[in-house]
Amino acid sequence: MPQPWSPSSWRSKPVSQMPEYPDAAALAQVETRLKSHPPLVFAGEARNLTAALARVCEGKAFLLQGGDCAESFAEFHPDNIRDTFRVLLQMAIVLTFGAALPIVKLGRIAGQFAKPRSEETETREGITLPSYRGDNINGIEFTEEGRTPDPNRLMQGYAQSAATLNLLRAFASGGYADLHNVHRWTLGFIAGSPAGKRYKALAERISETLDFMEACGLTPEAIPQLRGTSFYTSHEALFLNYEQALTRIDSTSGEWYDTSAHFLWIGDRTRDPDGAHVEFCRGVKNPLGLKCGPSMTEQHLLKLLVTLNPENKPGRLTLICRFGADAVAEKLPRLIRAVRREGANVVWSCDPMHGNTIKSQVGIKTRSFDRILEEVKAFFDVHRAEGTHAGGVHFEMTGQNVTECLGGAQAISEEDLAHRYHTHCDPRLNASQALELAFLMAESLRAERMKDGKLAANA
Ligand code: PEP
Ligand code: CO
Repeated sequence: MPQPWSPSSWRSKPVSQMPEYPDAAALAQVETRLKSHPPLVFAGEARNLTAALARVCEGKAFLLQGGDCAESFAEFHPDNIRDTFRVLLQMAIVLTFGAALPIVKLGRIAGQFAKPRSEETETREGITLPSYRGDNINGIEFTEEGRTPDPNRLMQGYAQSAATLNLLRAFASGGYADLHNVHRWTLGFIAGSPAGKRYKALAERISETLDFMEACGLTPEAIPQLRGTSFYTSHEALFLNYEQALTRIDSTSGEWYDTSAHFLWIGDRTRDPDGAHVEFCRGVKNPLGLKCGPSMTEQHLLKLLVTLNPENKPGRLTLICRFGADAVAEKLPRLIRAVRREGANVVWSCDPMHGNTIKSQVGIKTRSFDRILEEVKAFFDVHRAEGTHAGGVHFEMTGQNVTECLGGAQAISEEDLAHRYHTHCDPRLNASQALELAFLMAESLRAERMKDGKLAANA
């Protein structure tokens, strides 16, 4: 029998990746303040996302999850939010059109602040300080003051999340995401790139289709879906004090929801089945993600499936696989078979970023576009061979013209990394690399659907 759960039951479990606050009373005060702040999302929205993910589970939709590795206070700007949003929209259009599948759009945004770290401390030139853990915990600047966890940062993180979400809601339903604007989503700097040109051609076909539909009487008034879109938010449920403070009972269902985001995921470093992060997440009804890295065994995964989704509800759990391009063929089939043997309902998603991080020759953390692509391709190949649905992808990307990942059609080189390397944590795909990937994935999805006879070869 499972033990009773409460929003604070995680506190009696072993907890990793927690910062040490010098003033515990000050932290408790901030938690109390947060508890009286409004929820950021509603339970009904989280339920809609679960339903959308259940369709992914059945092979009838595809999940696109992406955004910053870590949001930062310094980069908080409406243009950045808009640009991330529009690249996701563009990717979604490419995937919808290419694969003839609805795309579930999920941002790593409006709350993705806290970061797990491999090392507790960082040493530079003989000085050792606590590691940077994300802007809602401490500062990135390498000073004693900057690196000391400050609970007031949680309030700033909450405020930034609320403002970001507000703008995203307006973009999604206020006209910006109207399909008739499909041409306007192109960012200036990618217009001339090969992916930009392909996108322009696609946008023209979509516009023609819309004209045709309108001539047939299928107007935006008749089909409101043409006017806007659904967009959901997600982040890693890492700093549990914050997550607990935003966990509320839904008055409709009487169940607990973490109202800090629609979807929360458990990181690869905090997925101990007996640990605090799993304990917290098992009790909230939001759809959940679970990162599966190379050390995830079948037994470990099965234990987590029972704990996190005891009712085997489709859409509740998304397995976000991040093995590294070389390890997918070895690790993924075993997990797929174990899940199948159990008859467990899961969404299979591919994070081709976190298993492919390398150091450039001058010591800059980077990722190669080719390796990212290889991992995505290997993921699709394994699913095709196993007869399961490659259900989604999880990217670290930005709408900005950064030079953080090597390669792509722009052929970003080791020297280029120094030019526009702005990330606060891991290297992100820029808008043109992200769009390029979307075209390549659309082809794989199309092949999967043609193999299953769900799409005509000449469609
Ligand atoms: C992340 O998604 O930013 C992350 C740290 O991933 P993982 O837990 O898979 O390492
Ligand atoms: Co990351």
